[in-house]
Amino acid sequence: MTIVSQNEHKRLAGEKAIDFVEDGMIVGVGTGSTVAYFIDALARVKDRIAGAVSSSEQSTQRLRAHGIEVMDLNASGTLSLYVDGADECDPHKRLIKGGGAALTREKIIAEASRKFVCIIDPVKQVPVLGKFPLPVEVIPMARSLVAREILALTGGQPVWRDGTVTDNGNVILDIHNLSITDPVAMEREINQIPGVVSVGLFARRPADIVIVGGEPPVVLR
Ligand code: A5P
Repeated sequence: MTIVSQNEHKRLAGEKAIDFVEDGMIVGVGTGSTVAYFIDALARVKDRIAGAVSSSEQSTQRLRAHGIEVMDLNASGTLSLYVDGADECDPHKRLIKGGGAALTREKIIAEASRKFVCIIDPVKQVPVLGKFPLPVEVIPMARSLVAREILALTGGQPVWRDGTVTDNGNVILDIHNLSITDPVAMEREINQIPGVVSVGLFARRPADIVIVGGEPPVVLR
């Protein structure tokens, strides 16, 4: 029996997402190791697309290295397609994201896109979100305030991701020990704390399609 590695699952998911790329599209591109495989596959069809909108400096660099034009979301308008990875995915296609600290730009592009295709390896599938520590991007001066309010609100343990500065110049708190039974409500409540830029719960706007890497990849619609 062949044992397929987690990286191989990521590659299979990333390459399958090319099925959703149509001629002339401006493609929204997420961040992370699964997306890196998608970008490499996108490079092979780059002459068919008009360009990309990127969710991070990391993805921008990889897109440009392949000669794919990176455009400003303000100029592109609504996107037909956004492809991104996730840290956890529940049966309703609600996600935890932000393990790579790119959650805010990812959320903006997801919101601006008609179709969000999420590419994951099978390890990311969970019945209930929260085992993966929930990332929250925070304005630096509000770090302690937000940590106290999140503890009171959720009972989870916020941990400062020391040394990480986001592409927007902010910090990340990772909330441990959660079991998120109502992700839409938790997303809304954390968003309301002053100093929070965004929370890595993608529940109000979940993925539309999930591709789970495997042989063959599974497409959940
Ligand atoms: C980036 O901030 C994250 O939202 C990534 O999409 C997520 O961490 C998935 O990353 P991998 O594809 O590297 O597992």
